[in-house]
Amino acid sequence: MSRIPLCRALIEDEELQAVEAVLKSGWLTHGPKNIEFENLFASYLGVKHAIAMNSCTSALFLAVVANNIKGDVLLPSFTFVASANAIVTAGARPVFADISYDDCNIDASLLEKALTPHTEALMVVHYAGQCCDMRAISEFARKHKLLLIEDSAETIGGTYEGKMSGNWGIGCFSFFPTKNITTGEGGMFTTNDDTLAEHVRALIGHGIKKTTAERVSEGKAWYREASYPGYNFRLSNILATLGVEQMKKLDNMNSLRRQHSAYLIDKLKDVSEISTPVEKPGRQHVYQMFTIKVRKPGSRDGLVRYLKEREIEASVHFDPPVHLHAAYKDVCKAVLPVTETVSSSIVTLPMFPQLTKKELDTIACAIKDYFSAG
Ligand SMILES: Cc1ncc(COP(=O)(O)O)c(C=O)c1O
Repeated sequence: MSRIPLCRALIEDEELQAVEAVLKSGWLTHGPKNIEFENLFASYLGVKHAIAMNSCTSALFLAVVANNIKGDVLLPSFTFVASANAIVTAGARPVFADISYDDCNIDASLLEKALTPHTEALMVVHYAGQCCDMRAISEFARKHKLLLIEDSAETIGGTYEGKMSGNWGIGCFSFFPTKNITTGEGGMFTTNDDTLAEHVRALIGHGIKKTTAERVSEGKAWYREASYPGYNFRLSNILATLGVEQMKKLDNMNSLRRQHSAYLIDKLKDVSEISTPVEKPGRQHVYQMFTIKVRKPGSRDGLVRYLKEREIEASVHFDPPVHLHAAYKDVCKAVLPVTETVSSSIVTLPMFPQLTKKELDTIACAIKDYFSAG
């Protein structure tokens, strides 16, 4: 049996041909494929604006910068460090709130207590493919007049009461190769706010409102006037064409992720030493990751090593939680018991559309063997 990787992007002939066509076209930087990708993404989510850029981290950073947030931003510590980095590098302060054990998402019932006199925004993270409790969260944000940012790096196509993530507040998505779709590196910023969209579009290209394509069509390609001091966060036409092809397969890829996850959950249902993912009522989980929790404290690392010895590439998302990183220990002191329990017990198993039944059986068998060996 060959090694089972943690993830494998589904790159097929369509992607190869599309990239070749763009390379041959000579238009390599931000161009027509960006627009096509953005239109597909916006209509998939049902949002007014989708703006493609070089990463989700840039999208998160711009969500804070373009809204001039300088005070406190509530977020979970159980996330990839990029969520907090985006806040700090934009000049605001992260304030961590604890998560719920079941779905590993920020616990909406704890938000009131986590508020400070300086809270200006709430950045929720839809962990591993499942939406947060968006009904309660959006009501809380409205009540306290907080900007709502959704770090949806790990959830493309996940819904809460039928509404997609990234359509509740400002949506920030990642196209890193482990995600639901990939462009190698890449991100998307989504919003229903016309003014914000226009501002962010300019910020990703040095603060210049008119794109190269627009200036070319107006016959004044050289006239590059900046409306704001901006950045270069553009996604290239080459990567955007990958995004267009991947969008066509997104539903099918997510449906395979759901099928594989249901199969694994069933195979592992009698393993009392672990808990498997829980799809909460009203939510459609898209399993960007398949994570289990080991119940016995201290036995998680042994399982990860055992799986690696059996050529199964397991990993951990996320340990340490952000408030325990050297860079954050002094930024925000927080008491987060559920976050710390989950961080020390979570294991990420391989999950990607091309997984076979045989590979899923191998993964389930290895986990059973580990616990039956004591
Ligand atoms: C929750 C979360 N936020 C942000 C990011 C950063 O995404 P990107 O690599 O596209 O900047 C990731 C990526 O792993 C993530 O998991």
